[in-house]
Amino acid sequence: MENDDDEDDIINPVTMILPDEQGEDAKRLCMLQEGASVQQLQQHYVRSIESTVVIRQLPSQGLSFQLWPAATTLVTLLDQHRCDPSNSPLSSILLDQNRNLNILELGSGTGLVGIAAAATLGANVTVTDLPHVIENLQFNADANATVLTTNGGAVHVAPLRWGEADDVNLIGRDFDLILASDVVYHDHLFEPLLETLRLLLLVDHKTQTEKKEAVFVMAHLRRWKKDSVFFKKAKKLFQVEVLHVDRPSQGSRVGVVVYRFAKKLHSLNGSLAKISLT
Ligand SMILES: C[S@@+](CC[C@H](N)C(=O)[O-])C[C@H]1O[C@@H](n2cnc3c(N)ncnc32)[C@H](O)[C@@H]1O
Repeated sequence: MENDDDEDDIINPVTMILPDEQGEDAKRLCMLQEGASVQQLQQHYVRSIESTVVIRQLPSQGLSFQLWPAATTLVTLLDQHRCDPSNSPLSSILLDQNRNLNILELGSGTGLVGIAAAATLGANVTVTDLPHVIENLQFNADANATVLTTNGGAVHVAPLRWGEADDVNLIGRDFDLILASDVVYHDHLFEPLLETLRLLLLVDHKTQTEKKEAVFVMAHLRRWKKDSVFFKKAKKLFQVEVLHVDRPSQGSRVGVVVYRFAKKLHSLNGSLAKISLT
């Protein structure tokens, strides 16, 4: 009998996930050797704002320090939205906002998505990740300070560990939009991530009563059959819709899919008890 997990476990995420080419607008700027660590500076041209975002990757330090493919899809959608909002998969989420958007990014890694969101939307974006990733995130936010200021955006950097209610409490819940790319990859992270989303999207919060409910937009490249476990659990909690599907890149059977997660429309008495995710 086929065993999904066995099949999954022989895949090395590093070699499988990171393509050599990350889109025609991404260029490797230079590689610097600092001690044992190689730094890659990569530039991403964002057409709609005629600006270049630069990010530093530190490949030898692990997956959190590299750009994953779904991030590039989100940056492209944000760029397209800025160029032609009425024709964009993000229009249903971004069009009827009447104030500067407050955005939270989960598992930001290099921070490219959050920085591009701040610059293209003129938004306040909080980029987050595990504590050891914060220094590189801050480096990348600082490296793009001029692009951000020129375009009326701002990026704040903060640690946020999935599944930790205290971290969500510290950051607050006053967000219009939550973004993430390539955050569904290890099954032991499914429940902590869903718990953070539950705290952000489903727990009633006084300041949220006067504004539109927040939604979660996630770009995901499916690599393992077990990813479907995450989506099954997510659909028990949220209304999940597909906003966009990329064509598969060369050598791949599937493309990046962008999902929208929102509070289900009909919850009992408007209150959602904590639902067991198991
Ligand atoms: C595959 S990387 C994707 C990074 C980035 N979003 C991108 O698309 O380039 C997953 C990210 O999730 C972060 N992450 C993993 N476990 C986490 C946790 N428990 N809490 C917060 N972030 C976590 C990692 O540090 C990493 O930056």
